[in-house]
Amino acid sequence: MLRLGLAGFGTVGSGLVRILLENHEIITARTGQDISIKTILVRDLAKKRAVTAAPEVRFTTNPDDLVNDPDIDVVVELMGGIDTAKSLITRALHAGKHVITANKHLLALHGPELTALAASRGLGLFFEASVAGGIPIVQTLRESLGANRIERLVGILNGTANYILSEMTTSHLDFATALKQAKDLGYAEADPTYDIEGLDTAHKLVVLIRLAFGRDFPLQGVPVRGITQVTQMDIELAREFGYRIKLLAQARELDGRIEASVQPTLVKYTYLLARVGGNFNAVRVEGNAVGPIMLHGQGAGDTPTGSAVMADVMALCRGLAVPGWRFDNTGFGNKPLPQAEILPAEESVSMHYFRFSVADHPGVMAAISKSMAEHDISIAQAVQKGDMSGSDVPIVFLTHNAKAAAVAATIREIDAMSFTVRPTVQFPIL
Ligand code: NAP
Ligand code: HSE
Repeated sequence: MLRLGLAGFGTVGSGLVRILLENHEIITARTGQDISIKTILVRDLAKKRAVTAAPEVRFTTNPDDLVNDPDIDVVVELMGGIDTAKSLITRALHAGKHVITANKHLLALHGPELTALAASRGLGLFFEASVAGGIPIVQTLRESLGANRIERLVGILNGTANYILSEMTTSHLDFATALKQAKDLGYAEADPTYDIEGLDTAHKLVVLIRLAFGRDFPLQGVPVRGITQVTQMDIELAREFGYRIKLLAQARELDGRIEASVQPTLVKYTYLLARVGGNFNAVRVEGNAVGPIMLHGQGAGDTPTGSAVMADVMALCRGLAVPGWRFDNTGFGNKPLPQAEILPAEESVSMHYFRFSVADHPGVMAAISKSMAEHDISIAQAVQKGDMSGSDVPIVFLTHNAKAAAVAATIREIDAMSFTVRPTVQFPIL
């Protein structure tokens, strides 16, 4: 018998309850345990719920009813937020309860402290649902790829952002309509700014870097750009060159230093990552033994995320069945992770997409090309769009590999030129 105390009965909590009710038989067969929810913590007892919990489940607004209940073995934190969630998890661990959480924001900020506390008490602190929804990327990095030195990670890690970009690309929806749909479908965070400004992706990337590289990369060290700067015009222009725009999280190790970023990126349409649509996420991992692998699945939503939470509950059951089992929550034996040495963003090298908005005058193309050449940026393709009316026109350049510092200097120079009408738009190319 394993008793859960569930904190949060929103999108993910409802998904978990539904899975536990509908798949009880297979879960029991696989774990040999009767798993049930004893108590559910919510803010509003009167709120109408998407799913009806089993009649014996008790509802409460008091976290003490989870933390102080000796019958509850595991606290499952699906509330979100920082302070209340951190306090609940800390108190649960101090009370000797295992913890499962989907809270990537909390983990990005306080993961090492919480895993250290769990380790000191010999408890499990599991977080499969915190990254990429239903995709089992945490277990894959911690266990299945444990024999590899991970060289590189590239991921689409936010279902809301990917849904918006996909809808803008394929259905030509405007940004606000696509965001509203993502919210209605339960994909977005309580504050969707986290989704669209790339912050949620950065939270997940920090969690993945720990699992993949065994280093702690500070959240504030990740350069982050969201999708609010991506316009329909850039989506169309990228498409004409054979690319899709995706919000990518990337991390790689170069000579012992780790480079990490979150930014809208042009991805060749023939790449699998370009084909990841809707609320789906994907993670491409390169290990020095396995080579490249890619995982793909729903990155947000009730039952996809609930599936990952339930996988943690079942993994916990397997550990608890072994007397003296030591839960390795980090994949590195619970030892404190060293700080990552960070490769500065300005040293990063990649191909780039530039869209200059300029007056259609003689010599403009030549002036832009000259500035790029002086910054050692080599042009791969260029096109000027427009109606030749002499007004503001977009000029698009795709470049060969160039350093981020040179790219920034070029943009500064060109944006200061008299023919530039609007700030230059630039995205890297994968
Ligand atoms: P949600 O739909 O907003 O649900 C949050 C639940 O927590 C609600 O039931 C709410 O109670 C309860 N709650 C919030 N603050 C509380 C407090 N101070 N005291 C008691 N109860 C509180 O959120 P969600 O989308 O399920 O997300 C939950 C967590 O999972 C977040 O950390 C999120 O980042 C993460 N996550 C979400 C998804 C997804 O697809 N949505 C996927 C992966 C991870 P009331 O219902 O009474 O208001
Ligand atoms: N808001 C998040 C997303 C939920 O859209 O990906 C999954 O973590």
